[in-house]
This record gives sequence, C-alpha cells and structure tokens, in this order.
Amino acid sequence: MIPTSICTYLTTFAALASTAHAIPQGGDSGWYTSSAVVAAASSTATAAASSSTTACNNSPDLCSRAYNKITHMGAHDSAFLRDDSTSNSVAGNQYYNATKALDAGLRLLQAQVHDLNGAIELCHTSCDLLDAGPLQDWLGGIKTWMDANANEVVTLLLVNSDGQSASDFGAVFAGSGIDAYGYTPTSSSSSSSSSWPTLQTMITANTRLVTFVASITADSTYPYLLSEFDHVFETAFEVTSLTGFNCTLDRPSSQSSAASAITAGLMPLMNHFADSLLATSIMIPDVDDIATTNSPSTSQTGALGLHAQTCASQWGVNPTFVLVDFFNEGPAIDTADSLNGVTQATGRETVGAGAADAATTTNEGAGGRGGKVGGTGALVAFLVAALLLA
Ligand SMILES: *[C@@H]1O[C@H](CO)[C@@H](O)[C@H](O)[C@H]1NC(C)=O
Ligand SMILES: *[C@@H]1O[C@H](CO)[C@@H](O)[C@H](O)[C@H]1NC(C)=O
Repeated sequence: MIPTSICTYLTTFAALASTAHAIPQGGDSGWYTSSAVVAAASSTATAAASSSTTACNNSPDLCSRAYNKITHMGAHDSAFLRDDSTSNSVAGNQYYNATKALDAGLRLLQAQVHDLNGAIELCHTSCDLLDAGPLQDWLGGIKTWMDANANEVVTLLLVNSDGQSASDFGAVFAGSGIDAYGYTPTSSSSSSSSSWPTLQTMITANTRLVTFVASITADSTYPYLLSEFDHVFETAFEVTSLTGFNCTLDRPSSQSSAASAITAGLMPLMNHFADSLLATSIMIPDVDDIATTNSPSTSQTGALGLHAQTCASQWGVNPTFVLVDFFNEGPAIDTADSLNGVTQATGRETVGAGAADAATTTNEGAGGRGGKVGGTGALVAFLVAALLLA
C-alpha cells in the first residue's frame, strides 16, 4: 500500500494545509421504482415499441418511456482518470474515460470545472492536483460519440466550482458543436418540470443532450444550460463507510425532504460512491471496497443494488440518476438494467473489471493496484504547493 514515510508526509502536510485544501469528491451528484412500477412501465413500453426493434439507450423498451422515468447510470467525476494519463493518480475516480463509459451503456457523465486563466478547465478539486484539460475538448469527444450514436440520449452534470457564467459555458458548448444537441424543457412557466418527454421524442427532435450545471444563473441565450437544483435533488456524497449510504435528501436545502422534492417534480439523484480517509480531512476514492460498492446485490451492506432498492422503496420512484466511481466494476450498469426492467440490452461494449493496465503493471505493492505510489506522489506535490501558497 502507501509507504509509511509518505503517509507521514501526507499527515503532516494535511495538518498544515488545513481543511481548506481537503480533497472532497466535490460533487455531486438518482431515480428508483418499486419492482411493480418497473414491471408496469416495462410492459407499457414493450407494447408501444412493438413496431420497432430499434433501441433507445440500449433497449427498444426504453423508447416510449419518459426521460425522468428511466434510471440513467452515471460516472462520477468521469473526466478524472486513474490511468496512464494521470500516472494512476489516487485522486482519479474512473479507470476508463467518458467515451468508454458511453460505450458501456452509461448515459450520465458528471465532472467538475474550474476557472483556469479565464478558460473552463476540467480540474479535480484544484488544477494543481489533477487537470484533465479544457472542457471544450472533452465535450468534443462526447459530441463525436453522439454523432455516431444517433439513438442515444446523454446527460451531463457539471459542477461549476468557480461560478463561471452561462455565457462562458455557452461559448465552450458552441465551440465543441455539442450545443446543437442541447435539450430545452418546453415548459417555461415552471423550472422544475415533471412532464419530461420520452426518449423517442428527444431522439426524433435530435435534442438528445440534457445538461445540468451546479450552480449557474439561467441565461435565455443558452436555454439548454439547466440549473441542476431546479430539476434534481441529491443524496449525500461524502460517504466514508459502506454503512453510510442512505436515501435522505442532502441538496438542495430549499427542499425539506426527498418526499417534498419528488412532489415538487425534482428527479432523484442517488450518489453511490465511497471515499477513504487518506489522512485527516484528505479523502480519496475507496478503491479497495469497489467490488462491494458497485455490486448489484440487494442484500449486501454497501452494495449499489441494495442502496437503489432501499431508495426506490422509500421514495416510491426509482432514482432517475445514479453516480458511481469506477463504473466498470460491478458492473454498475447491471443495477440500472434491473431498475429499468431491461433484460436484453443491445449495442454495448463490455469493459472488464479492474484497471486497464492491471495486467501489465509490474510495480504493484502488496495487495494494491498499480500506481498508488506515483499517484500519492502527485498528491504530496499538491499539498506542498498548497502549503507554499498559504
Ligand atoms: C477517450 O479516449 C479515447 C482514446 O484515447 C479518445 O479517442 C476519446 O476522445 C476520449 N474521450 C473523451 C471524452 O475524452
Ligand atoms: C445520510 O448519510 C449521510 C452520509 O453518510 C450522513 O451524513 C447523514 O447523517 C445520513 N442521514 C440520515 C438521516 O441517516
């Protein structure tokens, strides 16, 4: 695992750098239904789609279902990778990038952006820690995938860490060309709409990209940039124990409970990823427990399947959105299929468990996945920088 000396440095620097430089998964980030509801929705969809075998979001059964009545499995911090491109950074939340996530059936991509000299940059907590490049380049990669996959509805959730404006985002969306796919809710009278269209309606109109930003001031010039908490509520995200997952509303504070948020038409987002405490107030993705965390099991404590079933039961609806780390583990998509009543998904690429380089990494420490030392080095460098700047 991590050499003792590095742990000592980390602990020291963490203490000096203070909580202001902590590394939370800043983030974010469901919709769930009882099995009876799933079964009913599934049979309705099957009947309506019987004239076509064309799949929408990997299943013909989903074409006639409303956007908000589907569970969209999502990759948390989807731009922040633990792979060769980041020297296997311990701050990375995914082994595979957003294109691979889409190939594997995920339809929600979450990330965090920061202001880097006026540009909108994908940075994890700080651009000194993990800089995944300009948002525009990443959006361009997603647009390329959407161009090639015309029957797919994709959702983005961006955390606007430095409060950049809708016009800043609009310029970047237009620059990548992905703005052409932007979906704008039809109901302008109410910001939180419970009447979302079906996937087929969105596909036919070719407005197949739903973009939520937390937080952003709405600008009618960019009507497809939706303020997240006008449409979505979330469960807690800084969970540091597999016993810590629940279905209680965490944000927005304007809603008193998950029940009231659902009544108001907000769609549930279930955060389901765990962090490890590397040192006081320094959190990194809990990769050691990932097989349990992302498991479809509905009986194991901490499992994605159980958390989803519990929330569906408490809420009376399935999570619309779910965010996980290391999406290929589990695999997480199995839980979305179960919630959606999808048994024969089509058009997906299977991504195996573990890291891409797991088979070729030779410098693994005892029991650890490769690259922890290099990643920790980057974290130490970040903490030193934070200390010098303080
Ligand atoms: C993911 O990686 C592939 C291969 O390097 C690249 O072609 C693609 O653009 C990347 N996707 C995104 C969204 O960055
Ligand atoms: C829900 O989980 C979060 C994170 O573990 C915790 O902070 C919060 O107290 C929990 N709420 C309830 C009502 O158990």
